[in-house]
Amino acid sequence: MIPIPTSRITSEQDFRNRRKIIGAGLSAMAAMACNGPLLAADSNAPELLEPTPLKTINSYNNYYEFGFDKSDPSEAEQTLITSPWSVEITGAGADKKGVYDLADIYGEFAIESHVHRFRCVEAWSMVVPWNGIPLHKVIAAAQPNSRAKYVRFTTVNDATQMPNANWAGGPYTEGLTIAEVMNPLALLATGIYDQPLEQQTGAPIRLVLPWKYGFKYAKSIVRIELVEDMPKTTWWQQNSREYGFYANVSPHHNHPRWSQKTERVIGGFGRQRTQIYNGYAEEVAHLYGALEDRKYFY
Ligand code: MTE
Repeated sequence: MIPIPTSRITSEQDFRNRRKIIGAGLSAMAAMACNGPLLAADSNAPELLEPTPLKTINSYNNYYEFGFDKSDPSEAEQTLITSPWSVEITGAGADKKGVYDLADIYGEFAIESHVHRFRCVEAWSMVVPWNGIPLHKVIAAAQPNSRAKYVRFTTVNDATQMPNANWAGGPYTEGLTIAEVMNPLALLATGIYDQPLEQQTGAPIRLVLPWKYGFKYAKSIVRIELVEDMPKTTWWQQNSREYGFYANVSPHHNHPRWSQKTERVIGGFGRQRTQIYNGYAEEVAHLYGALEDRKYFY
């Protein structure tokens, strides 16, 4: 169980009524360039993010190890055992390797709350109030050395607990550069709405990378490796023409089979414009080269 003091638990209703205001990091320039008339006249004003209802977040899921339909993962809680759970931190780039019980990780790092836009490569979006540990804190604890150029994340792949395990020919893996993992926006999420993650949303621990497409958000992580070479990620291996390593959100770079200019708001009405880096340009654009370099945006 996630150690969230009961005094800190906010009801979903209260949370929604507060209409969370967060500094979403839009520079005035990026706002004007990317959002046009959809933004308020004063583009320096903090952005209002209306979180998607918990029920919706927990019932519209991609977790292919449990099936290919959005509703299939809701069966996951019946089979996937998430406690006890351990995460191995290893690789040539880590001076401090180890296998850590998640309960010990919770004891070591404070759980923070972050409300973020969530954009799937399938051109739909939500707003999710996550709880979790900033990824850079966990990576720093592994004492990265000069060989730590990338980080590979491996998720659980157990045919006795997952009806569609091995759909990708092995475990679901994801990867980031060392600069990306050190960015304060990157989170190892443990909860949503101050409640533990459910199996379908990646319990007990998953990635959250608000400026990237959702397929980068590896669920139910069991291993974190600090490595020298760029990892071959699951979706890149499935279709390298459509799903690249970086997968940063962009309205200017369409998926080969559909437009990325707009996104369908799950639990909302209609579509809204896609924002470059999903609205987090100020925080992350410096990590990348020229904006027109396609390799960062597919
Ligand atoms: N992680 C694993 N292990 N297996 C998956 O199929 N799907 C990815 C990502 N993480 C996936 C995964 C995709 S495509 C998306 S869009 C997000 O999880 C969906 O997260 P959500 O179900 O919480 O919305």
